[in-house]
Amino acid sequence: MRLQEWTMAEQEELIHFLMTNTWPYHGHTNPARHLIEKTIEEGGYQSDEVKTFWVENEQNEKVGIVKLYDLHDEIPMFDLRIAEIYRGHGYGPIALKQIADYVFGLSERKIRLEGHTRGDNLAMRKTFERAGFVKEAHLRKAWFSPKENAYYDAVTYGITREDYKGGTTTPVVWEDGQREKKSTSIPDFPDAFETERLIIRAPKVEDALDVWTAVKNSQNALKEWLPFAKALPCLEETEENLRQSVADFITRKDLRLLLFSKETGEFIGSSGLHRINWAVPKFEIGYWIDQSKEGKGYMTEAVQAITNFAFTQLGANRVEIRCDEENVKSRSVAERVGFELEGILRQDSLSVDEKSLRNTCIYAKIK
Ligand SMILES: CC(C)(COP(=O)(O)OP(=O)(O)OC[C@H]1O[C@@H](n2cnc3c(N)ncnc32)[C@H](O)[C@@H]1OP(=O)(O)O)[C@@H](O)C(=O)NCCC(=O)NCCS
Repeated sequence: MRLQEWTMAEQEELIHFLMTNTWPYHGHTNPARHLIEKTIEEGGYQSDEVKTFWVENEQNEKVGIVKLYDLHDEIPMFDLRIAEIYRGHGYGPIALKQIADYVFGLSERKIRLEGHTRGDNLAMRKTFERAGFVKEAHLRKAWFSPKENAYYDAVTYGITREDYKGGTTTPVVWEDGQREKKSTSIPDFPDAFETERLIIRAPKVEDALDVWTAVKNSQNALKEWLPFAKALPCLEETEENLRQSVADFITRKDLRLLLFSKETGEFIGSSGLHRINWAVPKFEIGYWIDQSKEGKGYMTEAVQAITNFAFTQLGANRVEIRCDEENVKSRSVAERVGFELEGILRQDSLSVDEKSLRNTCIYAKIK
């Protein structure tokens, strides 16, 4: 198959071709002779900017025509028509590929080739796709048919020079107008650190027995303030809870930290940086201690170190401690570490036994 340039000498042949076929998706389904003659006369098929080619098959039969226009533009346009008896034989896509060869061969400045068709012109749409064009626009009710006095959808296909050269079909990125999801960068940090008397580290599933035993022994003291201690969990529940904490630590969703005595290795208590917002970054410190280890300043030591860890290692701008207004021991930890009481949220929560409304103290330190 090839494209064979049409010349004015073949005027009658062109008129015959256009008049003996119907063009259901063109403005004139059956164009009249005088109209075609007028268009030819006005340079509508051949001029500085317009060139017309016959589409010839291997048997040298003229199976169609293609008109290229706006040839001075970086983005020329075309009109491809295959004669009725030759439609559906695969000529369209081959002809369109040859049109692309011709246009991109004209000059480096031809950056793309595009075409528009009526949404229901399925043959032409398949032709575009088979020739490597990408659908770039779908305009609803943008194609008026005067004959039917009806509006159809219009579709636009295009091929870029890069795709043509590389034999690729690059799809349009439709989400480009949406705000890109900002990914927050999280710094690298150790999962263990020490204080004078404590090892503070990320939890392990193997800590379950230590933690469970401490909860069991301290349940009376903890259940007043911590819902998880209201009913004693079983060992498996504690293990499950630790497994979740390990996972959350890895994904940086929540950083639970367990405290152990440096000297004896004994479990002292549980703390951590919760309700994290890495974008700020800000954290909330929570804590509870094994009742038997109370009164020795361990938790103050731990909270001091964890706060410091948040500011220096995690880039915190804000660290909070929230506790029940009546939880005197917890408040004194916050105050000893130098947290400032920013406010008290009135009737902010229910007591663990759900019988009374409680106020919540918000303590914070900022960078
Ligand atoms: C559009 C046109 C250029 C396609 O050329 P073609 O040589 O017929 O293309 P193909 O033979 O490769 O056929 C393309 C596909 O369209 C299908 N097709 C052809 N006519 C169809 C029709 N009327 N309705 C639905 N599908 C049709 C073919 O079956 C083929 O699909 P398939 O391979 O999955 O079966 C040609 O049909 C034509 O000249 N039509 C009239 C002029 C026109 O509409 N030009 C475009 C103006 S924007």
